[in-house]
Amino acid sequence: MKTTGPRQVRRMTPRLSALYANALPADRTGALYNAFSYPTKISPESIALFIATHTAPGDTVLDVFSGSGTTGIATKLCDKPTQPMIDLAQSLSLTPEWGPRHAVLYDVSVLGSLVAKVMCDPPDSGRFAAAASDLLKKAEASHGWLYNTTGASGEPGTIRHTIWSDVLVCLHCHRETTYWDAAVRRHPLRLERTFVCGGCERTIDVDDCDRAVERVRDQLLGRVVERKRRLPVAVYGKSNTGNWQREVRAEDQVVCNRAASSRVPSTAPVSEIAWGDLYRAGYHHGITHAHHFYTPRNFLAVAVLWDLIDQYDDEVRDALRLLVLSYNATHSTLMTRVVVKHGQKDLVLTGAQSGVLYVSGLPVEKNVFAGVRRKIATFVGAFQLVAGSKSTVDVQNASSTKLDLPDGSVRYVFTDPPFGGYIPYAEINEINEAWLRTRTNRADEIVVSAAAGKDVAAYAKLMQLVFAEVSRVLRNDGLATVVFHSAKSEIWSALTSAYASAGLTVKLTSVLDKKQASFKQVVSTITVKGDPLMLLNKSSASKAERPATSVHELIDTVLLDSRNSPHPDERTKERLFSRFVTRCLSEGIPVSLGAAEFYELAGVWRLQ
Ligand SMILES: C[S@@+](CC[C@H](N)C(=O)[O-])C[C@H]1O[C@@H](n2cnc3c(N)ncnc32)[C@H](O)[C@@H]1O
Repeated sequence: MKTTGPRQVRRMTPRLSALYANALPADRTGALYNAFSYPTKISPESIALFIATHTAPGDTVLDVFSGSGTTGIATKLCDKPTQPMIDLAQSLSLTPEWGPRHAVLYDVSVLGSLVAKVMCDPPDSGRFAAAASDLLKKAEASHGWLYNTTGASGEPGTIRHTIWSDVLVCLHCHRETTYWDAAVRRHPLRLERTFVCGGCERTIDVDDCDRAVERVRDQLLGRVVERKRRLPVAVYGKSNTGNWQREVRAEDQVVCNRAASSRVPSTAPVSEIAWGDLYRAGYHHGITHAHHFYTPRNFLAVAVLWDLIDQYDDEVRDALRLLVLSYNATHSTLMTRVVVKHGQKDLVLTGAQSGVLYVSGLPVEKNVFAGVRRKIATFVGAFQLVAGSKSTVDVQNASSTKLDLPDGSVRYVFTDPPFGGYIPYAEINEINEAWLRTRTNRADEIVVSAAAGKDVAAYAKLMQLVFAEVSRVLRNDGLATVVFHSAKSEIWSALTSAYASAGLTVKLTSVLDKKQASFKQVVSTITVKGDPLMLLNKSSASKAERPATSVHELIDTVLLDSRNSPHPDERTKERLFSRFVTRCLSEGIPVSLGAAEFYELAGVWRLQ
């Protein structure tokens, strides 16, 4: 069978074909990417290249699922391109006309919209830096004791982080052992699945043990609650002799107790978690409110910072809130973890897992003040990158099922829609939104969710409404780039019927090569590496009749192309599936196989 991709590309104008001919890199690095982590976001530099190539200065760009506003930031960059953008354009022989555009962003997410507003219209970076340093100074002046301690030899020091541990209960003799003592082994460093109980001396599987619980008075709720018992097991700190690690001492417990009984500012949230698909009876035991995701010390530290922000000028206040939130859910809560990494002598510190609300058996309590202070430079760098751009961005915190835009007013759409039930954004963002005291309206969220009673049919219907709106506001010569991935054929079907019913057709396809895979992409066996990307237009010209291609023929073509490709990435099973999907899309045939069926049929299960 002849391939159709390259033939299609040759018919396109040279500048578009260069953009879609190869998998475009989408590095997940740099200040603009790192300032705030929002699940699945793409680097703004890559999007900027798409915008600059598909539009002219003065044009309107739309993102109907804008999340943290990357399309808006990218629009800003079109008038202030970075060197890597210029270099990438040159290497692809693209000659975009840099200059200001206007972006309109829609998202139902309250958190996403705040991120977008601040990042696309930042305060003066100098004034922000001064306010942020002052904020930290004030918080440490009143609450520095939260992390002050003594080092390994008794000298004054500061806590960098404390590792806590679940407590296991022996199923035979009920003796309690910390998970830390039971599982962490050194030389080489590893987490064992079994241990010998110090009480009955039997060998026990960690997973067979109950986790100890305790009943404590919850100061904020004013009642006794049950929660998992967790104990501090190792303290990592620094003093003028350098970094150190030591065992927990009585003085540590004194500080924890003081934090637990201290007054929490009234601006801190006492907010019930609206649990949905992410609730897990085991590790979420006793977590009913946002503050249960924190140790008392870290909740107090975030609350003190949050409360102080009200003292600052309007101009910097939202940016300061974002600074604190950027470290909040991912680094200040019990979702912060340590992991074992091959070849490392000690456990490696990391943040919360992306896309889930997982609390490990060894949660970590990082120093919130030190972490927030470290993020100031990243924010300053990000703000400076967009400062001075004459592009404008309008952020709408609303559902895209109804756009407040005139017919035919948009030149170009760049969007990455929610991928079925892959990530329940509103639930993920719940902890940060508790601090904002405004939550995303989940009724409007387009997602497949058993907890919300939204099935694939409901998802497909809402996607149709959005694409109908996209088609309405798009100029007749307008284009839309859609980045999407799913390992499920029914989700692909929902997407393809949404744009087809709106009168949009696939003009080109490609793959966006995310250099650093997200957590789910790394651990799940059924994933899509490199997101399929499609360019849609309103062309009413019917496609030339071609003999129908069978799934087997498509698979053969994909496998043949991968063997001929000089890029090793093209031979990973995930990339092969992405290529299979993009071929289906450009041929206009249904994506009838999910990733698992594709791997089976193509015989590529074992490929890495
Ligand atoms: C894949 S994410 C987009 C990420 C984004 N590109 C970024 O830069 O962060 C999909 C987004 O769709 C949003 N969404 C879900 N339903 C929506 C609706 N009805 N209208 C607008 N946005 C919606 C979610 O809140 C989520 O932020």
